[in-house]
Amino acid sequence: MATKTLFVFLITLTFGLLAGSAEAQSLSVGFYTKTCPSAEAIVFEEVSKILDLVPSLAAPLLRMHFHDCFVRGCDGSVLLNSTNGNVAEKDARPNLSLRGYGVIDRVKAKLEEACPGIVSCADVLALVARDAVVLSKGPFWPVPTGRRDGLVSLANETRQLPPPTSNITTLISMFGSKGLSVKDLVVLSGAHTIGISHCTSFNDRLYNFTGKANLADVDPTLDKEYLAKLRTICKPNDNITFVEMDPGSFRTFDTSYYKEVSKRRGVFHSDEALLKHPLTKAYVLSHAGASEAEFFQDFGNSMINMGNVGVLTGSAGEIRKKCYAIN
Ligand code: HEM
Repeated sequence: MATKTLFVFLITLTFGLLAGSAEAQSLSVGFYTKTCPSAEAIVFEEVSKILDLVPSLAAPLLRMHFHDCFVRGCDGSVLLNSTNGNVAEKDARPNLSLRGYGVIDRVKAKLEEACPGIVSCADVLALVARDAVVLSKGPFWPVPTGRRDGLVSLANETRQLPPPTSNITTLISMFGSKGLSVKDLVVLSGAHTIGISHCTSFNDRLYNFTGKANLADVDPTLDKEYLAKLRTICKPNDNITFVEMDPGSFRTFDTSYYKEVSKRRGVFHSDEALLKHPLTKAYVLSHAGASEAEFFQDFGNSMINMGNVGVLTGSAGEIRKKCYAIN
């Protein structure tokens, strides 16, 4: 109850503070204030109820907004089902490990009951991601809204999502192509403070790093002790088992991800790669185990930057009735 009161207070406060500057932007904080005043409270309430029952869904809900924004912009295209003759993003390899589509459908159904045809699925994703972070003890940030939903979803466009094998050059260039900075990259990678990864996403580092596929063919940058531990959990070709990405605190949004990475215990090559550029390395080292305040502020800002990528506004696209199909 206390969390809910605080949430409503924060929403009210940020609407008040940002109302003046909102008009110049294509998205605006409090976009639904007149058309669906309870929209954000409805989203928060539904997400709270669901995460109370299934806390492990917080992480994939955060990840889903990222996967939406990097492909065709934040337009809800990740939510569309495949149809006869079209394989949608959802069914492409990087999205097969996404979970939580049912949560989005449930939140959207509640919104449709309260204000039919008003709140876009793309905005639902952005608000749910924020609330998933808040409910994992992470920061609150005001989410600019007003996105509209796209009409197209193509599996092969998920190539725009960086693979876990990416090196730092690839990561910087893939984030740069979305208008996101090197700082956004290192800050948003901090999302790996919550959630899990399947062994398949990093098994090459344990068993087949250079294609030799023998027990000595490991990623030399991975901490030896951690490597041995991961090998006890993940066997070669294991595509079922998963590990906590931030062991011991994988349900709490905090700075311990940076501590793990600084000790060369990031699970992905892309986590380790953050130690290969002066700016990202400095950020990792200075936030390893440091107090949360600066990271929390940065994370909110970078999520707002990511949430602006390629958005549809005005009369572009549509407001879907169901998030999994165009109207
Ligand atoms: C920097 C490039 C990134 C790469 C290469 C990457 C890659 C991955 C991979 C491979 C997984 C594990 C999937 C699985 O095996 O189940 C994962 C999980 C996750 N990613 Fe990322 N990611 C990146 C950036 C991001 C960003 C920007 C966010 C959000 C802002 C994010 C949030 C998450 C979360 C929360 C999980 C855990 C999901 C769960 O528990 O199901 N990632 N990521």
